[in-house]
Amino acid sequence: MDAVFQVADRMDSFGISRRGEPVIAIGGGVLTDVVGLACSLYRRSTPFVRVPTTLIGLVDAGVGAKTGVNHGRHKNRLGTYHPAVDTLLDPAFLTTLERRHIGNGLAEILKVALIKDADLFALLERHGRDLLDSGFQSPGAGAAVLGRAVHGMLQELQPNLWEHRLERLMDYGHSFSPTVEMRALPELLHGEAVCVDMALTTVVARRRGLVGSGQAERILRLMRRLELPVWHPLMEPVTLGEALADTVRHRDGRQRLPLPSGIGAGVFVDDLDAAELADAAGWLRAWSADVVRGSGTRA
Ligand SMILES: NC(=O)c1ccc[n+]([C@@H]2O[C@H](COP(=O)([O-])OP(=O)(O)OC[C@H]3O[C@@H](n4cnc5c(N)ncnc54)[C@H](O)[C@@H]3O)[C@@H](O)[C@H]2O)c1
Repeated sequence: MDAVFQVADRMDSFGISRRGEPVIAIGGGVLTDVVGLACSLYRRSTPFVRVPTTLIGLVDAGVGAKTGVNHGRHKNRLGTYHPAVDTLLDPAFLTTLERRHIGNGLAEILKVALIKDADLFALLERHGRDLLDSGFQSPGAGAAVLGRAVHGMLQELQPNLWEHRLERLMDYGHSFSPTVEMRALPELLHGEAVCVDMALTTVVARRRGLVGSGQAERILRLMRRLELPVWHPLMEPVTLGEALADTVRHRDGRQRLPLPSGIGAGVFVDDLDAAELADAAGWLRAWSADVVRGSGTRA
């Protein structure tokens, strides 16, 4: 909130004209979330334009209507719905972005692929590593992947901008990750925490027979190829249980947990229990230890 107040101070000292001069927010997802929140509060609502400069910004934080800041131990506990009047998506900004932040954004793209777009998953299998290496500057593949990811995100967000419907496919990867990300601070980037969550729920889906073992292997291997983590020491029963309880409160008393159904589609479940979670986390820990040792062929 201190950053939000700073932005409000600058809007005051600039003497912004409320209706005619939108604030232009140029930066990563943190910046557009903070400036968006300041704008939604400033004189009850001031227009703003977003110019995301990170991959997460281009495919996710710059696409929806949500603003927010963390509060207490919780991710985005304070926030608003305040759509930008315009958003400029320009991948040229990515040329200066660190490799780890490209991987971070690839995790959110992988989310769209896993839960609703099998063709995007195939593109990531073919070109994902290249995109990571080139900072998304590979001609053809870069535009195709960005286009599909943004389009898929918009398809899901646009009809439900104010989230009246709580079964949201784009919540995939965001059931356990908010708690894990906050408790692991500053170790895991947002997309990395999302990836760990997706790895866990892929294993849950595999054990339920929703995802085949060959498909699960492909998913986990793609995560590794994109240099994303598939496991974290916080994936233990106490943290996972508390994370799920917080998510249930956030989703109005039900789990409404998106799980992949094959690659490129999803289902919602309400009946995940602690034992099933602990089993899946244990399996994943063993799998990632195997991979680190150089074997890992047992999905
Ligand atoms: N509002 C939403 O709907 C939404 C959706 C997804 C994520 N988010 C939020 O976005 C945040 C993550 O965003 P992020 O990954 O952009 O992180 P970030 O904003 O922290 O940016 C990452 C780093 O890259 C730097 N940077 C930005 N643009 C750069 C460029 N072009 N070249 C070099 N460096 C650059 C930033 O200064 C920062 O150090 C999370 O807090 C997440 O909650 C919000």
